[in-house]
Amino acid sequence: MKITVVGAGAVGATCADNIARRELAEEVVLLDIKDGLSEGKALDMLQASTLLDCDVKITGSSNNYELTANSDVVVITSGIPRKPGMTREDLIGTNANIVKGVTENILKHSPDAIFVIISNPMDTMTYLALKSSGLPKNRIIGLGGILDSARFKTYLSLALKCSPNDLQGVVIGGHGDTTMIPLTRLATYSGVPVGHFLDAETLQKVAADTMVGGATLTKLIGTSAWYAPGAAGAALVESIVRDQKRVIPCCVYLEGEYGQSDICLGVPVVIGRNGWERIIDFELNEEEQAAFNKSADAVRNMNDILKTL
Ligand code: LAC
Repeated sequence: MKITVVGAGAVGATCADNIARRELAEEVVLLDIKDGLSEGKALDMLQASTLLDCDVKITGSSNNYELTANSDVVVITSGIPRKPGMTREDLIGTNANIVKGVTENILKHSPDAIFVIISNPMDTMTYLALKSSGLPKNRIIGLGGILDSARFKTYLSLALKCSPNDLQGVVIGGHGDTTMIPLTRLATYSGVPVGHFLDAETLQKVAADTMVGGATLTKLIGTSAWYAPGAAGAALVESIVRDQKRVIPCCVYLEGEYGQSDICLGVPVVIGRNGWERIIDFELNEEEQAAFNKSADAVRNMNDILKTL
């Protein structure tokens, strides 16, 4: 198994590091446009491997796509991250060209790869990668829901003062501060609905904190987060390469599911060796469906900007 991560910034490097530590592949390639950056970070990881009982070939590549040849999975994190005060949507013009170019270059050398898109605005970048590559829909997966659900479970565990390991919680919709939908109604604490333990106001606050989970970090750090995004990327890749068939909320192409078509949006999907294998299309209540439709409208407006670039 060979996995390439494009973009050796904080998210890409953390994702590659998590992938290597979990030994998800025999070979991990980190590629970046900036001379020396990916080689340096790959070498650093390799040196760390000797301390961590980890035996994975980790290579850096300064924009040489030949080194990525025959990758099974490719994670794209390239593009500029947001600064405080910026939304993910503000990045669209710059990142669209980058993501399109990277996808084309990767496909020249890895025609069978499964793509995981992390670059923002992620829902639109996933749609762009799908449309510009013409690949089968199951091979393009946008990473948003698994990260947003991790943040949802973090805030739930803080409110409940419990272990996040006892929590189930899913965030669907767009990966934007106003477009994501934490499904508080369906979240459980060891199988018991969280509404049994938390009042409506607290649950609302958990949902609101989740939605700005990334923005809160951007404000604190001065750039966008990387530990949770990198770990989320590796967890998604693990379900692919180990064919785990985990149900993970991911951004995928909808053709009528949840009442939406011709859009990539976050819904629960089964993730395995073939990429995303099946959408779990369960019935939302009226309020949730209305929020999902609103989220789709906002993402569709962003997708429309692609036509003007
Ligand atoms: C975040 C970025 C990766 O949510 O979108 O932190």
